[in-house]
Amino acid sequence: MASESAIQYLRAVALQQARQQLADDDLLLEVLEAGVGFVDAPRLVNLRERCLAAPPGAFVECGVARGTSLVVMAAYGDGRIVWGFDSFEGLPELSDADDGSGVEFVGYSCSGERGEQSVRDTFARISVPMENVRLVKGWFADTLGSADTVPIAVLRLDADFYEATRCALETMVPRVVRGGFILIDDYNSFDGCRKAVDEYRAAQGVRSPLVVTDPNTEVWWIA
Ligand SMILES: C[S@@+](CC[C@H](N)C(=O)[O-])C[C@H]1O[C@@H](n2cnc3c(N)ncnc32)[C@H](O)[C@@H]1O
Repeated sequence: MASESAIQYLRAVALQQARQQLADDDLLLEVLEAGVGFVDAPRLVNLRERCLAAPPGAFVECGVARGTSLVVMAAYGDGRIVWGFDSFEGLPELSDADDGSGVEFVGYSCSGERGEQSVRDTFARISVPMENVRLVKGWFADTLGSADTVPIAVLRLDADFYEATRCALETMVPRVVRGGFILIDDYNSFDGCRKAVDEYRAAQGVRSPLVVTDPNTEVWWIA
């Protein structure tokens, strides 16, 4: 097993590399340095690029945690409405379709003790206003369907497991405008997430190719 000092060294190297990648963007650098989230430099850069290239429409994230991605979406939203959905109650049980992938994270609270308030903390820390942000607390099955999000220009799914990803895909992808972007944070990290995406794309006949942001995490496609 690697020693604690070796792990610290590797973390410091990774942070240094990330700083170099984000050197031209003070906001992304600040988000990374704040260290509140689960999204690394390549995904932050891709999110910024997708936001800047998006057609008219709202930005939506399903699975917000402490708001690392949401704060980037709001900062680059140019006044658009930004929706964030999360239970803020910890990751739910796996379903059979997850086949055990991610079992070690069941019950883990990605937003920590402060729950929904942790998103407000992140926005305050990065000095991004929340006036255009609609934060919706609750399980996706109860909240997504009735939320008036149409039309969506950027949809970011980051809910780790099969059922949540499937629910978000089925409810939200039909609302994405032509030329909008669909980003799947966990496609290459959790088997259930990948399965939900592959099933959805096959069932709907989605031919737009998957673009790989990172072979260990995110993919995206154009609607
Ligand atoms: C990895 S975290 C999201 C990280 C976040 N996107 C970021 O930028 O740091 C996954 C989040 O999905 C939420 N989540 C998972 N399944 C859910 C469901 N069925 N309904 C609502 N929220 C869910 C969890 O509460 C958790 O906060």
